[in-house]
Parts: sequence; C-alpha cells; structure tokens
Amino acid sequence: MNQNIPTKYALDSSIHHDTYLIDGKIGKWNGEFTEVISTLLANQEDDKYITLGDSPKMDKKHALLALEAADKAYLNGTGTWPTMKVYERINCMQKFVDLMVLKRDEVVKLLMWEIGKNLKDSEKEFDRTVDYINETIKEYKKIDRDGAFFHNNSGVRALIRRGPLGVVLCLGPYNYPLNETFALLIPAIIMGNTAIFKPAKHGVLLIAPLLEAFKKSFPPGVVNIVFGRGREIAAPIMETGKINVLALIGHSSSAISLQDLHPQKNRLRLVLGLEAKNPAIIMDDADLELTVNECLNGSLSYNGQRCTAIKVIYVHEKIKEKFLKKFCDSVDSLKLGLPWENTLLTPLPEPNKPKYISELIDDATSKGAKIINKNGGKKFKNFVFPAVLYPVSEDMDVYKEEQFGPVIPVISFSDINTPINFMANSNYGQQVSLFGNSEEKLGPIIDSLVNLVCRVNLNSSCQRGPDVYPFTGRKDSAVATLSVHDALRSFSIRTFVASKDNPTNKNILRKLIDNKKSNFIRTDYYL
Ligand code: G3H
Repeated sequence: MNQNIPTKYALDSSIHHDTYLIDGKIGKWNGEFTEVISTLLANQEDDKYITLGDSPKMDKKHALLALEAADKAYLNGTGTWPTMKVYERINCMQKFVDLMVLKRDEVVKLLMWEIGKNLKDSEKEFDRTVDYINETIKEYKKIDRDGAFFHNNSGVRALIRRGPLGVVLCLGPYNYPLNETFALLIPAIIMGNTAIFKPAKHGVLLIAPLLEAFKKSFPPGVVNIVFGRGREIAAPIMETGKINVLALIGHSSSAISLQDLHPQKNRLRLVLGLEAKNPAIIMDDADLELTVNECLNGSLSYNGQRCTAIKVIYVHEKIKEKFLKKFCDSVDSLKLGLPWENTLLTPLPEPNKPKYISELIDDATSKGAKIINKNGGKKFKNFVFPAVLYPVSEDMDVYKEEQFGPVIPVISFSDINTPINFMANSNYGQQVSLFGNSEEKLGPIIDSLVNLVCRVNLNSSCQRGPDVYPFTGRKDSAVATLSVHDALRSFSIRTFVASKDNPTNKNILRKLIDNKKSNFIRTDYYL
C-alpha cells in the first residue's frame, strides 16, 4: 500500500482507534467499529479503497454519558468551569495548544490520507488552527479587559461581562475536520461552556492523537469527544433538551433535523455555517489574467470542496470568449496527484462523490450545456478532472445545487441584473467575487451585493480568512457570526451585576474587589 510514497507520509500499519474522552477519562471502546477508508490509491474503476483502520461506532448509551459529563461540569452555570477565573480557563487553553503542536506531523499525515487534502493545505489547516487558538486567547483577554469597569447610569451601577450559555453540541465538516471544528469548539469552551464534540464522517482518525491533550488540559467533563454516526450520537443528545447551543458546520438538512429534535427549541441557540453558492461576477473591463487565476483557485482549491468556493461564474458577454479560452487552458493545465505531490487537484475522499459529479454533468449536458475544457469530466475512480460547463441555465441541477466538487458552471450576461437576480433568488447568501475596474460601474453593484451576501471580494476569490474577519452568511448559509472575536460573542451572552448607587452597595462592591471574593466582580486586567 505504500509503494512510491515518501517514507515520511507512508502509513506503517492500519490504525485501530479504540478510544474516546468522556468525563476526563480516556475510555476504551469494546463495541462495534466503523471501517475508515482512504480513496487516495484507487485510480481504476475496479480498484478497491484501502482501509486506513477503524474507529468506534459509539451508541446512544455513550452519547448520553458524554452529555451527562458535560451537563455535570456545567452544573447549570454553577460548575467549577463556568465560574472559574478567566485566566485559569486561559491557562488550560494555553496548555492545550502547547500539547497540540507536538502532534502536527501525525495530524497532517492523517489529513492527507483521510480527506485527500494536499500537503501544503493540510499543514496550513493545522497551523491556522494553532494561530486561531492563540488569537482567541488574546481576544478573550481583551474582551475581559473591556468588561473590567463599572457603568453608572440613572443611579444604577453595573458591571457587565459576557457569560457562557451552557452545554454545546459541536459538529464539524469533513473538508476542514480540524480547523472548522476547532473554530467552534475552542471559543465555546474558553467562554465557560462545556462541550460534546463528534467528528465528521471523514477526518476521524486525525482527532485521536489529540484526545490526550484535551484530557490533560481541561477539567473532567469540559470537553467530551465521541465517535460514531450522527443519527446514533447527536440525535439522542438533542432529544434530551439539555443542549443549549447547536454548533454545526455542514449541511442545513442536518442542522434542521437536529434542531427539530430539541423539545424546547426556544432555548436552543444556533451557531451554523451551512451551504453556499458563491458566484464570481466578471465585468467587461476585468483584468483577465488576475481574474482567471482567482477563479481557478477560487473554484478548484481542494477540488472545490470548500463552502467558500466559487460555485458559479457569471462572465460578461464582451469578454466571454477570451475568458473562457484562458480559463479552460488553465484548468486543463492542472495536475491531478496525491496530496504529498502538492497538486491543486487530489482524489475526492467521498466514495459516492464522483458519481454525483457525473450526474450533475450529465444533467447539464442533456439540457444544452457543453463541457468546454479538453480534460473536463475525465475520471479515474476518485480522481476526477474538473469540468467547465457552458452555457448553464436555470433548469439544470448544477445551477441550484451546491456542487462541493470539481465542476464549474459558467453563464454569460450582458445585463448585471442577471447575476444579481440569481443571487436575490438563491437560497444562499455567503459571499461573491466581483471582478472589474471601473468605479462608476462597481459602486452601485457593490451597494446591492453587500445586502445580498456578507462579503464582497473585489478582484479576488471568496475565502474565509483572515480569521479575524467576520465569517457568516444570509438565508440558508449561516446562523451567527464567526471570527476570532465574533465567535467568542456567539458562544456567550451579556450578563451583569447591577446595584443602586448608594454607600452600602458601594462598600460591598469595594470589599468584593479588594478582597478578591468574586471571579465576576473584579476590575483586574489580564495582560
Ligand atoms: O468550507 C468552508 C471554509 O470555511 C472555507 O474556508 O475559505 O479558508 O477555505 P477557506
């Protein structure tokens, strides 16, 4: 299985991952297991996927044990963790990130094998996550400093801070199994919430090396990590009504069905990152070279399996031909390879994805679109070469669906209302890429676009980063906002202590502060 694979990235043996983390203890799983496969080495139709190992297929009983542990650690907000001094929670997080960095090579290698992400992007995913944690620590200190003073209004003195929300169920996506999941989990727990975290269907083994770091860094029950299917784990947890926040990056259908299971939906807060259908709009005066490069990376990095990928291209009639020629040549010059070869295109990790991509192509071509690049649609099992489809129309599946893979629908326009109407009628509202040069033309378009999506990328592809900027969407694309700062807000609520401004209360407050009797009422400053 390891022929021609650089020794550093070869797998020595299959990985029998049989542990989980509940209530501060690493438990050993003795029940059923799920096989973990890799599509990397299958490039002929009858090639079998290789087995990387297996992972626990945990059951309802253990899901509820994880919930019980998180619930006990939170204790309706009276537990040690939610009432702890902020700097003590920060110390736990610092310890975690120090231990996490020791696992970089192991996690990066598994990212490549499990989800087929190329080496450069796998390393970036790990490093970006570490940076995210460090930035979160800095930002939390700042939020805490900003809350360290008394307001005095209409005779009422108030110390206002942000407090936790409760128990968080945290579910991440396969395309960023480390980064996006941790971008939910880390802010959730640092704010004093407790969490149950279940990795996505793909990208499971890479979480195992981090269990020990979680166990060593946080008090029992603060982080509980379980493995298995959503139906068997997440569903029974939601049915108890004990989840205060559903934090999910993935598909809206999962978010809706989990929400529906909660018996008191009004109590459930949502932090969701969902589907998107981000368009590129190319005006007639766009810089062709720059536009082609941005559209190429925007639509095809990690084979288009990013929620922020450009998923449809609208090109102005006047430059359509030049653009399509240059774009198709660039797509055709891309190489398909294995992750450690650092090609932009790599095998798709989901066994059924190639079939879905072919169905989208067949549907579009049966309704009048053509594959206009030479290599478009060529397939070697899970190695799927991107297809550029033109002209795409409203009746085609690829016009509406988030393809999340290597197929690029193109539509030409002469009236800017064509792409604007597409966006206005779309179920999604995450981002757009706008290419052009004339401020006369761009100005009014930008003014409309900012109200249709939440990020307008001028002359560049869509993306989430830098992580300090808000990441959110309208309509079915998101609920709540994530960024280093906003995520801390999304996982917390303003709560405060108010007192009539009189000598008795003033004296109590003074003594609470001087004698350090409260972790909430304090005015010290964490640097
Ligand atoms: O899948 C969606 C990710 O949040 C995209 O992040 O733009 O950094 O690739 P990215």
